[in-house]
Amino acid sequence: MAAKEGDIGLHQVPFQDSSESESDNNDDIEIESEKEEEKNQKKNQSPSPLSRRQYGNFRRYYEHRNEEGPEEDPRLELLRKEWFEDKECLDIGCNDGTLTISIAKMFRCQSILAIDIDPELVEQANLNLRDSCLLMQMGGSSENNSDDSAQRAAASPEKEVAPSEPSSLEKRNLLEVVTFKQENFMESQHPELYDTVTCFSVTQWIHLNFGDQGLITFFNKIWEVLRPGGVLLLEPQAWRSYSLNHYLSPVAKKNYSEIEIRPKDFQKILLNKIGFRTVEHINSGWIDAKHLRFNRPVLVFKK
Ligand SMILES: C[S@@+](CC[C@H](N)C(=O)[O-])C[C@H]1O[C@@H](n2cnc3c(N)ncnc32)[C@H](O)[C@@H]1O
Repeated sequence: MAAKEGDIGLHQVPFQDSSESESDNNDDIEIESEKEEEKNQKKNQSPSPLSRRQYGNFRRYYEHRNEEGPEEDPRLELLRKEWFEDKECLDIGCNDGTLTISIAKMFRCQSILAIDIDPELVEQANLNLRDSCLLMQMGGSSENNSDDSAQRAAASPEKEVAPSEPSSLEKRNLLEVVTFKQENFMESQHPELYDTVTCFSVTQWIHLNFGDQGLITFFNKIWEVLRPGGVLLLEPQAWRSYSLNHYLSPVAKKNYSEIEIRPKDFQKILLNKIGFRTVEHINSGWIDAKHLRFNRPVLVFKK
């Protein structure tokens, strides 16, 4: 069911950031980075710009994020075939490619271009992709989640998480579908158009590094690379997370002090200023976010 313009979608949850008023600890990964940063400062080490994680370019991100293993990312359960099957997709901020590869295995995408600003993470993503392909070819992968998808679909048919035909997954080489590329989305040009853009846990890093104007540019660039009828899957971080991460670079610190837009405003901006027609909330997120790791909302905007 698509929501009307400005509607809040299927789950009828308000788009609010309960973390804005929270002051106690949240065991988000960004806090871990804060502790590491403090340690480094004490040791008087000055890490290189990209290893400082100023873009959210964390190493071993998924070890922290998915305690049950990379294939157990709860976001996978939210994804629908209609957004990926036979679609040309762009994944912005793919880190080491773990989530991207899972999506490619779960759905028969036409193609996925996955980009990240950090060249080392892109290198790791390519290694992970090759490993996944080898495992799939050997047929011994516990990660081949055709079965997982089928179980999910059976457990929650209303979510329409219907798996691709297992045989279709095997017929296609993952290497032909997924391309990882080092790229700063804020600077790159994309003459080609996409059906689906995924942007999971990236907005905070754009916002802290490029400020309010940069964020608007980012949203406009996404709009421009989407075909009419295309979808943006957006998972924004809460405002509280910004306060834990703005120390990561002088630029972020400065931008943080000047930022006026809050994550709870993104929906209005994307609908009223950027021009998306509809939004659907496919999970709640931020509700009760106080003690839950990575409990972020996922919103689907349609062009
Ligand atoms: C916190 S990680 C999220 C990874 C993945 N999207 C997920 O949710 O599982 C954010 C990623 O965005 C990347 N990133 C940040 N700014 C970027 C930019 N301007 N262009 C491309 N990638 C960027 C970082 O390098 C990092 O790997």
